[in-house]
Amino acid sequence: MCGIIGYTGSDSAQARIIEGLRKLEYRGYDSAGIALVEEAKKPLLIAKRAGKLANLEEALTKESRASAGIGHTRWATHGGPTDMNAHPHADETGKVAVIHNGIIENYLELKHELEIRGHKFKSETDTESVAFLLADELKKTGNLASAMRAICKRLKGSFTLLAVDSDNPRIIVGARRNSPLVVGVGKGENYLASDVSAFIAFTKSALELGQDQVVEVSPEKVEVTDLDGRIVTPHAYEITWDSKAAERGGFKHFMLKEIYEQPKAVADTLLGRIKGEKVELAELKDIKIDFERILILACGTAFHAGLIGKYALEEWTHTPVDVELASEFRYRKPVLSNKTLVITISQSGETMDTLMALRHAKSLGATTISICNTIGSTIPRESDAVLYTHAGPEIAVASTKALLTQIIAIYLIALNFGERKGIKLPNMTGELLELPNKIQKILETVEPLREMTRGYKDATSVLFLGRHVGYPAALEGALKLKELAYMHAEGFAGGELKHGPIALIENGTPVIAIVPPASSEIAAKMISNIEEVRARGARVIAIADSSFNLEIPEIIRIPKSHELLQPILSIVPLQVFAYEMSLLKGNDVDQPRNLAKSVTVE
Ligand code: F6R
Repeated sequence: MCGIIGYTGSDSAQARIIEGLRKLEYRGYDSAGIALVEEAKKPLLIAKRAGKLANLEEALTKESRASAGIGHTRWATHGGPTDMNAHPHADETGKVAVIHNGIIENYLELKHELEIRGHKFKSETDTESVAFLLADELKKTGNLASAMRAICKRLKGSFTLLAVDSDNPRIIVGARRNSPLVVGVGKGENYLASDVSAFIAFTKSALELGQDQVVEVSPEKVEVTDLDGRIVTPHAYEITWDSKAAERGGFKHFMLKEIYEQPKAVADTLLGRIKGEKVELAELKDIKIDFERILILACGTAFHAGLIGKYALEEWTHTPVDVELASEFRYRKPVLSNKTLVITISQSGETMDTLMALRHAKSLGATTISICNTIGSTIPRESDAVLYTHAGPEIAVASTKALLTQIIAIYLIALNFGERKGIKLPNMTGELLELPNKIQKILETVEPLREMTRGYKDATSVLFLGRHVGYPAALEGALKLKELAYMHAEGFAGGELKHGPIALIENGTPVIAIVPPASSEIAAKMISNIEEVRARGARVIAIADSSFNLEIPEIIRIPKSHELLQPILSIVPLQVFAYEMSLLKGNDVDQPRNLAKSVTVE
């Protein structure tokens, strides 16, 4: 939520920052702004505009000479998406400017104090208080980093902050608490950013910042301290993915590219982890398997991965598994012990609710594992162990390849723990290794679904039905359609239909039904559910493998697989359906309204 970049070097700061913001726009896109240090000791050049980044670019009519500055792309929390509320926020002299990702929870109290000191607020944001606070503190010391350290001690909530000050013209200072910030270390230039995609085209050397740390960068130097000014050595790493991975590469949208990357993403998550019939996870070797209960915590699509994974985890580890929304868990008083294993699932590794739920679980004594796609992000850093999914960067706001690889990761954990517990398991490794080819086959034969989607464009509501592992897959189908097509959509468990939802069915109601393999004990039940809704006028699209001879006009065939693996296949057409519907509606596929990738606020 909110993309942040700072640049200091010898190149055009404006060009580098705009380029970085283009890469970060998926994090928030309701307004954008930039502050450039054009001349020492003079007011900064500040431009900000509501709407997409293109509006800001239009406002920047000439190329600035500045070689240091900061830029922001916003997802509004406090104050609507207007020019005035857009970041950066500056002090009255215009010489100090701040950008922010997160929420300053005590901003009202600070604002009151600052107003008494004579500051006049122009915006409705929580961030403007930080700009005034920083400017006042700076008057005492003249040192931007020490002023930042001092004010961070007064801030409550979550933040990544970047600041520039024309009295320190080549320096950018950043600070973080609970929100992401990475340093890009270049040659004669340095970057600060929300994530590495902002600078990967220019440097692959990065530094991870810890909690409550402040970083000062000039073109030649990076210095990280804690809030008391003690120097800390940050963890340095090389970014392994290519900058091309974060580009559309000939696809019309990132989402489409990411859907088509799924065979490779799944193969990469399996890579090196399957040895014959065994699953070896070196990353988890120190995790003791004597836990009595497993609890999965996640949000949104990652939560659906958890719901799907529960079936295999229970079946293959003989351990009770619960799955809970991280946002609900963190405000409960749950009963956990050191015999509870908590698995958090997060593509970004920065989702605030999941991070807070993880900390809550740790404080209650649980052992924690994270399943994550973003190397070095906060959630894996704070977990006892991590299994990375290796899906590559996911840029489209709607999650696709991350989900499939998260399910794979849970299955690998389930098989590995089951083996270590000495449980007799079915041989699943061959089936797992066949998945990339099967997904590829779906993608090659998905064309008729595109056509079918047209027939449902004017529907006011779409229902998704599934049973067993097909039920969370149905929830995911509905979530994708809501976020991309802005249509009312709901997922139901087939067995629940008669307990209420069947009242929604009327002539022409679209129902997308996920049919389990014929070998499943609930296959016949699902067929009955389909007949029940058809008898009441529903138009059904069935997603089924070839083991069924269904008398339904609209069927999307998927390859046969083990029942537990079926969601990894059945979800793919659901993603395509939502993608196509979004296109038909003329929506912004990669940046749907009101949303942002990486929800770093509560
Ligand atoms: C939906 C979607 C979101 C995320 C959720 C968790 O398509 O992308 O529901 O799945 O915000 O995000 P991560 O996995 O980054 O914790």
